Amino acid sequence: MSEAKRLAGEKAIEYVEDGSIVGVGTGSTVAFFIDALARIRHRIAGAVSSSEQSTVRLRGHGIEVLELNDTGPLPLYVDGADECDPAKCLIKGGGAALTREKIIAQACAKFVCIIDPAKRVDVLGKFPLPVEVIPMARSLVARELVQLTGGQPVWRQGVTTDNGNWVLDIHGLQIRDPAAMETAINQVPGVVSVGLFAQRRADIVIVGGEPPQVL
Ligand code: 5RP
Repeated sequence: MSEAKRLAGEKAIEYVEDGSIVGVGTGSTVAFFIDALARIRHRIAGAVSSSEQSTVRLRGHGIEVLELNDTGPLPLYVDGADECDPAKCLIKGGGAALTREKIIAQACAKFVCIIDPAKRVDVLGKFPLPVEVIPMARSLVARELVQLTGGQPVWRQGVTTDNGNWVLDIHGLQIRDPAAMETAINQVPGVVSVGLFAQRRADIVIVGGEPPQVL
């Protein structure tokens, strides 16, 4: 599977514009993208990173990491996903970086999602849906999520996000209307963000393979 991830990550380089600042996601597929980006680092002005993990890798390659507040809108965001449906709606947050990923995806004109074939699904929800929560609201939010979704939220114990928050993973979902569920979960007090990317979904999906498939 890591070969498929590498092929997807390398294909995404074709979407990078010369002289631009690139929005960069998080995860093992993105790591391949960052490694490929390093080979053209002289052609880009820098990157905005969605996690400490990606920042370390970018800087390790000598790529300048900039603050989103200083860059304004960006042309391109490249990130992986945990699941992708036929409408290019995504579940993300397996790496607990969902909130910063969502912020950067929103700031970018084009969102290129890079996945291996196992991430493609007809209906989102087999992968537990991550929700980042303010720590004091964890059990309140969990109770509300049971009512709202019918799923079973499980606290991802031992994980603190880069923003100092906790993550609940909702098991047992079949998400037939991702945009509606995204809106509903966002209304619960204590929710920082939900790993459903439906309102700002991917524009292009690259499925790693020989050759990569562009959806
Ligand atoms: C991190 C994410 C990742 O994009 C997602 O978990 C996919 O990771 P990988 O490329 O390692 O399979 O959303 O929060």
